[in-house]
Amino acid sequence: DWTSDSFVETTVAQLKEKLGQDKVVLGLSGGVDSSVAAVLLHHAIGKNLYCIFVDNGLLRKDEFEQVLESYHSLGLNVKGVDSKQRFYDALAGLSDPELKRKAIGKTFIDVFDQEAHAIEGVAWLGQGTIYPDVIESVSVKGPSATIKSHHNVGGLPDFMKLKVVEPLNTLFKDEVRKVGKTLGIPQDILGRHPFPGPGLAIRILGDITPEKVDILQKVDAIFINGLKSEGLYDQVWQAGAILLPIHSVGVMGDERTYEQVVALRAVSSLDGMTADWCHLPYEFLGKISNEIINKVKGVNRVVYDISSKPPATIEWE
Ligand code: XMP
Repeated sequence: DWTSDSFVETTVAQLKEKLGQDKVVLGLSGGVDSSVAAVLLHHAIGKNLYCIFVDNGLLRKDEFEQVLESYHSLGLNVKGVDSKQRFYDALAGLSDPELKRKAIGKTFIDVFDQEAHAIEGVAWLGQGTIYPDVIESVSVKGPSATIKSHHNVGGLPDFMKLKVVEPLNTLFKDEVRKVGKTLGIPQDILGRHPFPGPGLAIRILGDITPEKVDILQKVDAIFINGLKSEGLYDQVWQAGAILLPIHSVGVMGDERTYEQVVALRAVSSLDGMTADWCHLPYEFLGKISNEIINKVKGVNRVVYDISSKPPATIEWE
């Protein structure tokens, strides 16, 4: 019978045996899978695990600082890399969703390769791949797919030539969470909603600027913190806000305003393949809408997305 205790015990022993004194480099995303993989590897090889956490400037508000702090508390050997400007430069002027994904994938590879080169004698690439990623790898539209398509020309970056260690590749998501709990990883990491690799870039329709990121981070934080304080966060599979590329007329005091529109999205789902829009309470939506319009400069209208998947997708891009 599978238990997380026995999984941790056996896996740590196997990793010790397999890796010995070797060095492993692993990219942390702030998500559940890479965090659990890192802590598991850390139990086996300690400081020989070198974690890299990249700030791509497309994360949620304050997330980089908060998650980095959690990683330090867990004792991980982690380097936070501020690459915000590199990503904004790579994205400048791009509006097409797939071009944005490609630019982000390529920039991530460049940053990660540079950081991996700085670790002398690194032999392995650690990854938080879980079982559904293995079986669904054909349909993945995430950065990994982008990485492959981009680097078919000109050869693989050096870190992709490393031997790969994927300690979670036999587990389902709920099992990963149980393992994380056994390892003492805090609930604010384990209970986190899924968040796409390209981050807020695919929730800002059109081109990306730091100003738009700032607006969307503020809107998103009001929505997510509201879900948490009303006890709704754990009932929702994924939630977020989308900055629409349109302006609409509003009124503030005696003044006519002409400002941006944001959409809120919350869905229930089991695996992201299908999803239903969440019937959040009207009172809650009303309160969040008021708070957003009152507090976030540049936004004068909030709409709620009531489409399910299929035929809509969870993300707008
Ligand atoms: P869609 O929009 O296809 O999203 O219904 C399904 C799930 O996948 C996430 N998603 C992505 N994750 N890179 C990722 O790592 C991506 O490019 C990407 N696009 C969508 C989405 O957030 C949802 O959980």
